[in-house]
Amino acid sequence: MTETAPVPPTAPASVLPTPGAPHAPDGAGRRFEVHAFVCISESACARDGPAVEIQRFLKGKLREAGLKESLRVNKSGCLGQCGHGPMMVVYPEGVWYAHLTLDDAARIWDEHLLGGAPVEDLRFRTREKGTNVIPFQSREDRTPDTTSPYWSPCTRCPVQG
Ligand code: FES
Repeated sequence: MTETAPVPPTAPASVLPTPGAPHAPDGAGRRFEVHAFVCISESACARDGPAVEIQRFLKGKLREAGLKESLRVNKSGCLGQCGHGPMMVVYPEGVWYAHLTLDDAARIWDEHLLGGAPVEDLRFRTREKGTNVIPFQSREDRTPDTTSPYWSPCTRCPVQG
């Protein structure tokens, strides 16, 4: 009797979809191949928009899609970019999003987390590299202090300096 060679696994090395192609079956790649963090910190992001709802919405979508082994959407504490929230970051690409709404989260789900292509017009882009924290007038008044030397709006900031 002749021995047959073991059949190599047919699962792709990555679950990151080719833009426009269907997502690989859950668990076909490494666990949590795509990992998103949504900042829900009360310091800024949860005050600036529906951060908690966005995290819940995305978590619900991945459960519905049966992709809980491939994708993960975690709550995060402050990401060090306060004032641009709600914010999220998606790995492994390291794509950041800023000033998100629930409609934006639906687009990120469809186009990036499922579709594999970052949503360019929602991306967090700043003039300065590194930390870009917007100084507010006060904890209650979320109007940016545009006179501060630390004022550095991103391209999605409603107020541009
Ligand atoms: S509170 Fe969200 S980045 Fe700081």
